[in-house]
Amino acid sequence: MRVITTIKEMQAEIKKLKSQSKSIGFVPTMGFLHEGHLTLLNKARIENDSVVLSIFVNPLQFGPTEDFSTYPRDFARDQSLAECEGVDIIFYPSVEEMYPHSSSVRVIVQDRTDVMCGKSRPGHFDGVATVLTKLFTIVMPTRAYFGIKDAQQVAVVEGLISDFNFPIELIAVDIVREVDGLAKSSRNVNLLPEERSEAVVLYKSLTAAKNAIEGGERNPQTIKNLVSGIIHSETQGQIDYVEIYSYPQLKEIENLEGTCIIALAVKFSKVRLIDNIIITVRQEIGGEK
Ligand code: PAF
Repeated sequence: MRVITTIKEMQAEIKKLKSQSKSIGFVPTMGFLHEGHLTLLNKARIENDSVVLSIFVNPLQFGPTEDFSTYPRDFARDQSLAECEGVDIIFYPSVEEMYPHSSSVRVIVQDRTDVMCGKSRPGHFDGVATVLTKLFTIVMPTRAYFGIKDAQQVAVVEGLISDFNFPIELIAVDIVREVDGLAKSSRNVNLLPEERSEAVVLYKSLTAAKNAIEGGERNPQTIKNLVSGIIHSETQGQIDYVEIYSYPQLKEIENLEGTCIIALAVKFSKVRLIDNIIITVRQEIGGEK
């Protein structure tokens, strides 16, 4: 496994792989790898000749009051985990390497950003799309792997790949959860112990929503109230949003039908967590029951 820190060296290595017609599986991350990332790496390993992992905490996607400086980092640990997953190259550039001067071009995401994290984190997805445009151009992957926990990010990346004609297959991979249901996230380490216990309520509330929908509930507002009520009653964490949309379009819906996302974000003292479930509701055929 090689660790490459410069764009020039990375491009030379990619050129070599391309000349050998090797397929490249790419897993872009901000490091502090957890099992969710390892699942992406494992899938990339199975499906490609070469696996590239990028580790870069991208300042462009953090707002001025967000957790850029406290975002957890541990390169030595990431390196040994990557080695175990059979990664061929870790691309580990510095901020200066990626953004050597104040940038003259930035990617602006125009669709699907007025909801969920896009609404509460203005500019976040522009930062994600800008860094991914650079990374995709440098790594030129055959396939790029993303976790569906960041479902809005997956939808935005789908738009980026399609609008800019990147010849990349986007692979969205299921959420990996702790045994108690909490979605794995690098940020979980920044939960206080009592917050960690309370955080199980995120998945619990989504499971209650799923059960209600399976029981026949079709009103998005009723489901949102149910989810918010459970979160309010079982944690000190502050709800940032509980939202329901069609997926991946992320448009408002009057009734739950087709593929929908129930997504939420909750702020704890030092960390804001997100979670979601995506469900497909079959249209009811016929009139009276
Ligand atoms: O999901 C992440 O970790 C980041 O948003 C990504 C895709 C690596 C871009 O910085």
